[in-house]
Amino acid sequence: MASVIIAGVGSYAPERILTNEELAKTVDTSDEWIRTRSGIGERRIAGENEACSDMAVHAARAALADAKMSASDIDLLIVATCTPDRPLPSTACIVQHKLGVPAHTTCFDISAACSGFLYAMEIAYGMLITNRYKRALIIGAEKLSTIVDWSDRTTCVLFGDAAGAAVLTKVAQPGIGIIGSDLGADGEFADKLMIHAGGSSCPASAQSVEARQHFIRMNGKEVFKSAVRVMETVCREMMEQHQLTPDQISLVIPHQANIRIIEALAGNLKLPMDKFFVNLDRYGNTSSATIPLALDEARRSGRVKPGDLTLLVAFGAGLTYGAALVRW
Ligand code: UT7
Repeated sequence: MASVIIAGVGSYAPERILTNEELAKTVDTSDEWIRTRSGIGERRIAGENEACSDMAVHAARAALADAKMSASDIDLLIVATCTPDRPLPSTACIVQHKLGVPAHTTCFDISAACSGFLYAMEIAYGMLITNRYKRALIIGAEKLSTIVDWSDRTTCVLFGDAAGAAVLTKVAQPGIGIIGSDLGADGEFADKLMIHAGGSSCPASAQSVEARQHFIRMNGKEVFKSAVRVMETVCREMMEQHQLTPDQISLVIPHQANIRIIEALAGNLKLPMDKFFVNLDRYGNTSSATIPLALDEARRSGRVKPGDLTLLVAFGAGLTYGAALVRW
């Protein structure tokens, strides 16, 4: 049985850093509150003329260079995002054009919020394993600064902008690369983290803009509890399926939403925190970009070595969730 491997990873974060201290000048918050309740110290904010697709292209170029491939090698392009450049067309098509990915490439976006990168990975895996595609470029890219209500202190302190990408390809060697994946969703919690207006159920109108209904609204406490529960379940299932004990996992790369969520997950799984890669102190929650951004940093800092088993795990609006097991 052939394998699908991650042949290259890349990421991009905009230059502009927005610190907690700066935020505290515009909303009633403090560096102390944000750090102790979330672990976030600063986040990146994209330029006014920098779209989601621009960040995606930067990350994609880095991933292609890491894989020693060029845009012309790609025949499948998936962008996971909840902040597409526009409702139509897909950001994947815009990225295809900007990056110079050949015509006739299959390009589409997927909507799975913060679990989007893991959803994209599973879709690409399935499409590559059929032999109909050879090399996939999957991207998680978000300009969350455009959907955050900067007057709402309960959400605006949490999010940031970034992009991450990976190149996937099939190899003949069995048992390496993406060796497991488990995705899920629980629509019962759909209203716990949502944007009310701008879709077909509540189209944009002067009233919806006036009521600030185009911004993220979240029940933080409910999302927190669900996040710990679903991530623990999916991690346990992944380890059981592959008959692994927690100590066989070299590194966990969790979605970066709140350090307390990661600590609770580590405690429940009885894994030490030093097995969890954390960079949310510098970027905040960048939704679908968190996992590839963290994976890129983890690899560059030498925390992923050949033969290692890495567990990727995420949750997001929907409530979506997923885990993937990668052997390098
Ligand atoms: O990708 C998925 C995205 N979402 C998440 O993962 C979010 C999951 N939830 C969380 O991370 C946490 O629930 C939050 C960080 C959002 C909030 O932390 P919390 O410990 O659950 O705080 P809380 O909502 O219970 O609020 C405690 C207090 C409240 O004041 P009162 O009612 O006790 O007087 C809030 O109004 O903190 C207040 N508060 C703030 N104070 C200063 C809420 N936001 C802020 C703020 N600065 N930014």
